[in-house]
Amino acid sequence: MLAEVSGLLSCPQCGDGLDLIDRALVCARGHSFDVARQGYVTLLTGTASKFTGDSAEMISARCDFLEAGHFDPLLDAVAVACRDGGTGADPQILEIGAGAGHYLARVLDALPSARGIGLDISKPAARRLARAHPRAAAVVADVWRQLPVRDRVLTHVLSIFAPRNAAEIDRVLCDDGVLVVVTPTDRHLGELVELLGMVRVDDRKTERLGETLAGRFERVHRTRLEFRMALSHRDVDNLVGMGPSARHLTTEGRSTAIAALPEPFSVTASVVVSTYRRPSTSR
Ligand SMILES: C[S@@+](CC[C@H](N)C(=O)[O-])C[C@H]1O[C@@H](n2cnc3c(N)ncnc32)[C@H](O)[C@@H]1O
Ligand SMILES: [Zn+2]
Repeated sequence: MLAEVSGLLSCPQCGDGLDLIDRALVCARGHSFDVARQGYVTLLTGTASKFTGDSAEMISARCDFLEAGHFDPLLDAVAVACRDGGTGADPQILEIGAGAGHYLARVLDALPSARGIGLDISKPAARRLARAHPRAAAVVADVWRQLPVRDRVLTHVLSIFAPRNAAEIDRVLCDDGVLVVVTPTDRHLGELVELLGMVRVDDRKTERLGETLAGRFERVHRTRLEFRMALSHRDVDNLVGMGPSARHLTTEGRSTAIAALPEPFSVTASVVVSTYRRPSTSR
């Protein structure tokens, strides 16, 4: 799939365009980036990134949880936001912090003429991303550096529970392109926060998001989405394991607390799906 999106990518060393030649992406100046056996390409240079992203265990828990369908209303809401935010051109979509690519795949299913790039700093994520969808390519890169994407070539950028870099998103989105962002509200997974001491969502997160995007983007649509999930102990374990709390809880403490829960256990998902565009004056 890299062949179809290579025209959107840029060399992380010099910024030139990249072509896929044999099993490498190569720029006109000869900088070359091998495609890994598992199908993803690493477009990082210079000093090692201080971020490693999600571990193989976190990615595996995330895949199990999402594939059980509990977040389907959210996956569908993201696909609808992308369809409604279309620019008329064939969609060229980038998901930053894409994890295993479930959201990107759902969006590509909803938009048959679209192609996508999933970008993540985690190699275990990239291995899964490379297999996420026939029209998706997988790139390992750091959201906090220059994105390895050409200027103004994308119609959509997605950031789902993931870090975002407003200046770089501004550089890569086309004039009337859209940024679709999902952030948790302070009610998200509230029952588990109480019981398992999971990391609490900062309830000013959505507000702060607006502040960090202000000046470059304005919010044109906002949907608050809340639904209940009936979860087995295994689902709860995956849900804890796929998030930041996985790093704070001991394995023993986690399994004892989960074993004590009723089954199924009812948990609230509560998020905001926001769509941003550049203010009309700067398009
Ligand atoms: C909470 S997960 C969300 C994954 C996916 N969007 C989903 O909802 O299934 C956040 C993702 O951001 C990635 N990430 C964290 N820091 C990053 C960085 N500096 N650059 C790129 N990706 C990063 C992690 O590896 C992880 O896959
Ligand atoms: Zn180059």
